[in-house]
Amino acid sequence: MSLRRTVALSRQAEIHELARQVSREVFTADTIAEASDLIEASNPDLILLDRRFSPHIEQFLLAADKISDAPIVVIGSDEDAGEIAFLEKMGAYDYLRGKNDLSRLKEIAERIEKQSNVRASGPWGNTPQKTPDYFFAEDFAAQVSLVGHSDAIKHTLKMTRLVAASRCNPVLIVGETGTGKELAARAIHLLRHPPAQDSKEPFVAVNCAALTANLLESELFGHVRGAFTGADRDKTGLLELAANGTLFLDEISEIPIDLQAKLLRVLQEQTFRKVGGIKDIQSNATIIASSNRNLKKEIDAHRFRQDLYYRLNISPITIAPLGSPRRKQDIPLLAEYFLKTSAICPEKSGKIASLTKLALEELEKYHWPGNVRELRNVIERAILYETTDKIGVNSIVIDPTEPCEFCDGSTAGGIRNYSLAKAERELISRALQETGWQKTRAAALLGITRATLYAKVKQYNIVEKTPHAPEHPAPQASSPAPGAPNGQPVAAAY
Ligand SMILES: Nc1ncnc2c1ncn2[C@@H]1O[C@H](COP(=O)(O)OP(=O)(O)OP(=O)(O)O)[C@@H](O)[C@H]1O
Ligand SMILES: [Mg+2]
Repeated sequence: MSLRRTVALSRQAEIHELARQVSREVFTADTIAEASDLIEASNPDLILLDRRFSPHIEQFLLAADKISDAPIVVIGSDEDAGEIAFLEKMGAYDYLRGKNDLSRLKEIAERIEKQSNVRASGPWGNTPQKTPDYFFAEDFAAQVSLVGHSDAIKHTLKMTRLVAASRCNPVLIVGETGTGKELAARAIHLLRHPPAQDSKEPFVAVNCAALTANLLESELFGHVRGAFTGADRDKTGLLELAANGTLFLDEISEIPIDLQAKLLRVLQEQTFRKVGGIKDIQSNATIIASSNRNLKKEIDAHRFRQDLYYRLNISPITIAPLGSPRRKQDIPLLAEYFLKTSAICPEKSGKIASLTKLALEELEKYHWPGNVRELRNVIERAILYETTDKIGVNSIVIDPTEPCEFCDGSTAGGIRNYSLAKAERELISRALQETGWQKTRAAALLGITRATLYAKVKQYNIVEKTPHAPEHPAPQASSPAPGAPNGQPVAAAY
């Protein structure tokens, strides 16, 4: 599995199945208009187009080109192969010979992934080498690749195992963005359907924030022919496609309130109806919902139904933020794990073995609002920047978009050209500015003693900025420097 999202313009459930082999989320459309809406709303990495679907395929290729950069792969048959060159000219990216051409689709997905650097990262993506088991919170790494050894992550894992072993349905997973909610959801699915015994049960993920209310409803429940303009065929919804497997509803708080009532019905009755349908369809899937918002606050703000909340909240799995003291000890382990498993620079793979003490301290000091995802990005960036066999503090760039007075603007987010001393001076100046020059707080922020802070302020000659004072005054001079107006010191250039 390598891509994030695919839109398939096809009437066949087999094509949905095919797409799911290479993509985390798959949306299917019945009509060109619906496909265009889905493409616009979901920003897919891949568009699959069933050749048999429409006589207006060329028109669609031209129209899709205007709304998305995603490559369009046409699914045809051997007889259509003569058209390949023509379709390529019209903007198609590649061609599958029939709906069973999985091996070619996998090749294409890998190519797209390489080109756009889209990847399902971490344990679920391409892992360049076998990962040692000592990273994982318990000794069943193959199923649950949750890295960590803090009590907090061990507790999360314990709850994940308990819930997976029970018949709990629905399951709610809560935690800030990037803490690993989807990882936990997939863990539950894998524990309930071990690949060796039960590889067929699907894990179907849908991001509730990605689609408009109408699209989401017809994606989840499907629709019957004639349910609305353009619905000229029955459509199978994701709930039905999840069958006896798992439907993962990511960002459940974003489901529009009307649809929440319909979802509640599914959870209570285990049945649902297609849009425009009258037949009750049985749902056997485990429904796992995740939220990075505080659902109680959403209830208070009348954005989330209280009854749905209580229905979901049977045995919630919570994941602590990475910046909280309870998870701080996971940071070095996760950093090393991402260092060992990242595929971002294949030529450096296995060559950078560890991080320096200072680099680790830098990571431990930070509060990680983007949690594990942000840490993974910082480590991958560090791998790109690092030129030695150890990640040093200079390669740790927490926020690459933040303007930095020592950055070389010409490299546009590339390698920085400042020394450790300059970086240290910069950090100290920022901490002092942020705390309004309260040295005790600044020292605490920096993780150093007040005495060290005083010494560094003196060493780097950092002075408090006043509206008239330059930030980097020149060393004391007995006579004005040439060109200095009114005898004021000239700012030292770095
Ligand atoms: N404990 C962990 N061990 C290893 N990788 C992790 C861990 N937690 C998170 N990750 C990685 O961090 C990234 C984000 O995880 P995931 O998508 O599961 O987060 P999320 O909570 O669903 O985020 P969001 O709320 O933004 O959807 C993924 O690459 C995932 O593999
Ligand atoms: Mg998620």
